[in-house]
Amino acid sequence: MTIRVGLIGAGVMGGDHARILSTSVNGARLAAVSDADASRAAAIAGACGATAFPDADKLIADASVEAVIVASPDPTHKALVLGCLAAEKPVLCEKPLGVTTAECLEIIGAETALGRRLVQVGFMRRFDPGYAAMKGALDSGDLGRGLILHCVHRNQISASYSTSEGVIANSAVHEIDIARWMFGEEVARVTVIVPRQSSHAGMQDPQIILMHMAGGAVVDIEAYLNCQYGYDVRGELVCESGTAELVPPHGITLRRAGQEGFGHPEDWRPRFAEAYRIELQAWIDSVAGGSPAGASAWDGYAATAVAEAGVASLKTGTPADVRLAAKPALYD
Ligand SMILES: NC(=O)c1ccc[n+]([C@@H]2O[C@H](COP(=O)([O-])OP(=O)(O)OC[C@H]3O[C@@H](n4cnc5c(N)ncnc54)[C@H](O)[C@@H]3O)[C@@H](O)[C@H]2O)c1
Repeated sequence: MTIRVGLIGAGVMGGDHARILSTSVNGARLAAVSDADASRAAAIAGACGATAFPDADKLIADASVEAVIVASPDPTHKALVLGCLAAEKPVLCEKPLGVTTAECLEIIGAETALGRRLVQVGFMRRFDPGYAAMKGALDSGDLGRGLILHCVHRNQISASYSTSEGVIANSAVHEIDIARWMFGEEVARVTVIVPRQSSHAGMQDPQIILMHMAGGAVVDIEAYLNCQYGYDVRGELVCESGTAELVPPHGITLRRAGQEGFGHPEDWRPRFAEAYRIELQAWIDSVAGGSPAGASAWDGYAATAVAEAGVASLKTGTPADVRLAAKPALYD
């Protein structure tokens, strides 16, 4: 069985998903590509033997497309995911699910009305072997209860469209999701603390995002989008009887000319290459008949709600409580 996939958004992430789907995922084929820039869609479609569509809605409706990846900019996600739900087609939507909680709740309303899960949100870190091993260590009980999760999220240079709010809602949203998934509980309160602004950044960067989990654990996130030296994600889970720390998958350590070290990639794709591959395979397996995989629309909503509280705290300088809607039984 081969699932025919349609891709909307043929930029950095869409291009990566197309390449991985065509080379490293079993049971799937890229059948269609659409992008606001027709030349981008044509380039990827040509390279992968797919059909280019000028219009995303037509791609969703086309009979040749059985499942859809949404990798267009954040503000386009809601309408495209709602379109997939109206067509009853499974959709893997890049994070964030929506730019506001109201948008996410609209998607939850549509999916709940259908009565089955068709939406997976692209929080690929859940599939990263390092994070999975960290969660395995916590869930084994050998380390005792989790107390603190330290996170570092650094990008070499921020994108031209980055904003102070986006440091939380577009970048640290990955750590927000990882914290909820790791501890299996919601975030209760967010406090954003800012040091002086880096001279490399035209916005409030870096930021420290402090989260109190509902069960009592604390998560600190250093989000720094202009660290200059490369892409660097770190994490250490501190438990009652030990810790679990991520080891970056750098392959080799070089010793040369009196120094020892390893390189940092320019962006996230090499660091999370394996996570993206496993995420896509899990999604295809779930579309082919397995149970839903990865982050649900509820997870997407909850992460956006935490990000909204974080942005409120950034603006006021005071802690902000996270207030979630009632969780539909579909997501239990
Ligand atoms: N999971 C991750 O690790 C990760 C990393 C980076 C970006 N993202 C997310 O992926 C999405 C895409 O990010 P990117 O870095 O690839 O951006 P990008 O700008 O490189 O690509 C976006 C593409 O979408 C196209 N586009 C714009 N509006 C469109 C529309 N209405 N319909 C169809 N295509 C449209 C653009 O022409 C462009 O080719 C964003 O939502 C972003 O937050 C996720």
